Amino acid sequence: MRLIQRTHGCDLSSSSRDFLAIEGLVLSDLRAIIDRAQRLLPAAVGDAPPEERLRGRVIANLFFEDSTRTRVSFEIAAKRLGADVVNLGASGSSTSKGESLVDSARNIEAMGVDAMVVRTSIAGGAALVAKHVACPVINAGDGRHEHPTQAILDMLALRLRLGDLAGKRVAIVGDIANSRVARSSTHALVALGAHVVAVGPPSLLPMGFEHLARGAGSITIAHDFDAIIGEMDAIMMLRVQLERAAGSGVAPDYRATYGLTEARRKRMRTGAPILHPGPVNRGVEIDGEVAEDSNDSLIMAQVSCGVAARMAVLLRALNQ
Ligand code: CP
Repeated sequence: MRLIQRTHGCDLSSSSRDFLAIEGLVLSDLRAIIDRAQRLLPAAVGDAPPEERLRGRVIANLFFEDSTRTRVSFEIAAKRLGADVVNLGASGSSTSKGESLVDSARNIEAMGVDAMVVRTSIAGGAALVAKHVACPVINAGDGRHEHPTQAILDMLALRLRLGDLAGKRVAIVGDIANSRVARSSTHALVALGAHVVAVGPPSLLPMGFEHLARGAGSITIAHDFDAIIGEMDAIMMLRVQLERAAGSGVAPDYRATYGLTEARRKRMRTGAPILHPGPVNRGVEIDGEVAEDSNDSLIMAQVSCGVAARMAVLLRALNQ
């Protein structure tokens, strides 16, 4: 009955168990999720027994935009917690017949799922779904808006390497205009007291980005990667989103100006880690050998942290 009441308009506000954005998240909540993800990391990667706290629950993964890391890690996270998972994508679903995001979500909810994970190319799409279903909704990336679980995994990977992030200087480099990862991780870093340097060509740096986030940290803008690289405690490279950046002017000399090449890696501070959310455009924003660097690259550690981050968010969504 709860579904019928909710979907007939009795209460269309989103639930406090939704996880839609880092922006606006209470700092203590952000810290609690990261702390919990850290505690769950051994179970997430199979080094400790699974925590079957979601046994009997059903999680729906609604991925209307392509994904490898996020979709699979949400599925593994749910299974490590004992939940059952159903997956729906744009291909092979009634989306191809024109069914809307909200209609799809409402129909899946009517089958009795306990939580929904939503990826969509529509900025605000996950929040829209959350207004129309009663179960908790987790944003797995909505257009250029936010990718909040990516920020949790990024903060965890960074914290495991650097310790407390307060006062740390983190460069976020590249296609910031099209990056929901940049937005979510900037919100998280600034909330945790880190200093973000957003680096990229003017065409890929949105106006006013330095005012994006509030917190103990700060944001500055730079266009000259070489001028700041040696001062950073960590470098987060962004994928050039060729599918979204069409027409926005990714220059042919992008790698020479903004790519993390081997020559640039040598100018980084000793021990400063390299992050990238994936998928990697090798030879564009980062060279293959730099991405593979076993000492400085956290890219695979990020992926492992992703399972733990999603376990923490699923437990929060289901009040566990
Ligand atoms: N980082 C990330 O969101 O990767 P996927 O698109 O493969 O999920």
